[in-house]
Amino acid sequence: MRIVMIGSGYVGLVSGACFADFGHQVVCVDKDASKIEALHAGRMPIYEPGLDQLVAANVAAGRLTFTTELAGAVAGAEAIFIGVGTPARRGDGHADLTYVYGATREIAEAITGPTVVVTKSTVPVGTGDEVERIIREIRPDMDVAVVSNPEFLREGAAISDFKRPDRVVIGTDDPRARAVMQEVYRPLYLNENPILFTGRRTSELIKYAANAFLATKITFINEIADLCEAVGADVKDVSRGIGLDNRIGRKFLHAGPGYGGSCFPKDTLALLKTAEDFESPVHIVEAVVKVNDSRKRAMGRKVLHALGDDARGKTVALLGLTFKPNTDDMRDAPSLSIATALADAGVTVRAHDPEGMEQARRMMPDLTYCNDPYEAAKGADAVVIVTEWDAFRALDLNRLKGAMAAPVMVDLRNVYHRQAVETAGFAYTAIGR
Ligand code: UDX
Repeated sequence: MRIVMIGSGYVGLVSGACFADFGHQVVCVDKDASKIEALHAGRMPIYEPGLDQLVAANVAAGRLTFTTELAGAVAGAEAIFIGVGTPARRGDGHADLTYVYGATREIAEAITGPTVVVTKSTVPVGTGDEVERIIREIRPDMDVAVVSNPEFLREGAAISDFKRPDRVVIGTDDPRARAVMQEVYRPLYLNENPILFTGRRTSELIKYAANAFLATKITFINEIADLCEAVGADVKDVSRGIGLDNRIGRKFLHAGPGYGGSCFPKDTLALLKTAEDFESPVHIVEAVVKVNDSRKRAMGRKVLHALGDDARGKTVALLGLTFKPNTDDMRDAPSLSIATALADAGVTVRAHDPEGMEQARRMMPDLTYCNDPYEAAKGADAVVIVTEWDAFRALDLNRLKGAMAAPVMVDLRNVYHRQAVETAGFAYTAIGR
């Protein structure tokens, strides 16, 4: 099939490369000439394990190309995916659809025959209706079906999530569009991955409901973790104890410093805006957003507490800055609130992250950035594990202690066993244990 992907950011590039790997002929389009130039040179604009090899293999096979010329790419395509960004709009939290509608207009002007336009970006309920209206207005002569096909991939595991999804959701009532989408996802049918056909508005809502539910699950266990600390229970065991119940499930029950990233914070807010617009409140999600925001700030206080009475003038080493491991993404990362709280209290912050330091430097220019965990720990009064990168799971505790001014560890991801750390001579603070 001839597929066009508009937008070569996270979702667009991963989806485009995976579609090409399925055997389709894919053109990835982006307005940003420097991004397209980099892709032509084999450089990835984002960090995602395995993406460079996947792109290189499909470019070499002649199935994947990149361009800034939308019109040329779109002419004759059987399916045109919109994978542009939908950031939270400043001020009101609504998803900003400027790029989606801009791409829609350009597509409408460029199409040369019947086609299917698919929104892959996360878009609020009703966006598909508006995309359809815009296309009909510009091209009343064309037979175009508009489909919703949200993407559920996680950063750091995006390729396997795309190729082995728990499900694919396709929102359309149009039989021709349905046949086209079946063809697009044919390799998944062969692997018997569930493909769910629904109405378009339902499909749009599924994406938000899924992310809001996962954010709720995390926030629930985070509050239970606080309660564990108060009553002397262990949240890891509570999590296992409830998660082994199949109705609950074990995933997304790891207590931590609060969720971050490009999706949960933005999508929960957007869901609340939709709920407000339709006067159908989702109080649980309102609480989740509030609790998660205050949790990130509370983590800074937790670190200060571990430093003892007077934190001013002390030094803290932050290990892990990105919102989760295996990404360079710093968006809404808990490390941002923690570093701010520490700096406000007069603490010097040294930091190390395996992939995120370039982005972190731009957002927090005042920290001291170090090449490895031991260098970060030099002279520190506490090390804080903020993100659970594999590289921090088996630190040489003696070496770490030797570098530090005082052996204190704050483990915000519950990576270590208390006994092992305490035996090595550290004062140890974890989450909910
Ligand atoms: C998420 C969704 O998982 C994905 O389906 C959607 O398409 C985009 O948003 P992503 O943001 O890449 O993906 O990361 P994810 O692995 O879901 O983690 C989100 C945040 O929750 C991270 O900050 C992570 O540290 C936190 N988290 C996750 C926890 O604190 N505890 C958990 O048990 C799981």
